[in-house]
Amino acid sequence: MGITIALDGPAGSGKSTTARKVAERLGYIYIDTGAMYRAVTLAAIRRGIEISNLPLKVLVQSINIQLEQSPNGQKTLLDGVDVSREIRMPEVTKLVSEVSASPAVREAMVKEQRRIGKKGGVVMDGRDIGTVVFPNAELKVFMIASIDERSQRRAAELQAKGIDVSPDTIARELEKRDELDSNREISPLVQAPDARLLDTSSITIEEQTDIITTWANEKISQ
Ligand code: CDP
Repeated sequence: MGITIALDGPAGSGKSTTARKVAERLGYIYIDTGAMYRAVTLAAIRRGIEISNLPLKVLVQSINIQLEQSPNGQKTLLDGVDVSREIRMPEVTKLVSEVSASPAVREAMVKEQRRIGKKGGVVMDGRDIGTVVFPNAELKVFMIASIDERSQRRAAELQAKGIDVSPDTIARELEKRDELDSNREISPLVQAPDARLLDTSSITIEEQTDIITTWANEKISQ
């Protein structure tokens, strides 16, 4: 057993890296829910599916997405094949928010996320974890950071993977995605009333990890 930790926030606020590190420290499972939406998007691109609810509904019923824990972090499998790298490609990033706005896609993903996290002992990051997926999570954190900081971080992250995109281009993409994610009808990106706000603009990953681990330990010992 263990508590459920929900980390939500806009793109590039440092959720995934922090969530992974917090999970490591607590011996919890880390679930990157964005990877699931990215895998659906990759499948839609590969099959040439129209990005609207009905075709996406048929698609999600015919694919299998698995998240596997490995020593190098989470692996994302689409129909049994590791697509961890492909889901980070700019083509996927460009379409993922449109795909994620589909009610059928959300319904299928949320169901799976609840199944994976039902036993607790989990750190889940996304946009709607504290509001929709686990509204009773013991600890909810809403992470934000300035657009400059977020685009610099994302540019460095992509560069490390051999993908060269300028921070300016990334800033525009992040802003567009945040707008779509915040204004969609179903499960928009919004801070849960009982979530703690963490601005990561001028703190390091280690510091973010320390803060959230401290908050988690407070809840665990309650
Ligand atoms: O890592 P990054 O901040 O770029 O985003 P991500 O966590 O990989 O999520 C990619 C996209 O998936 C988001 O922009 C959302 O459109 C969608 N998403 C969502 O709708 N709900 C979630 N729980 C997680 C991601």
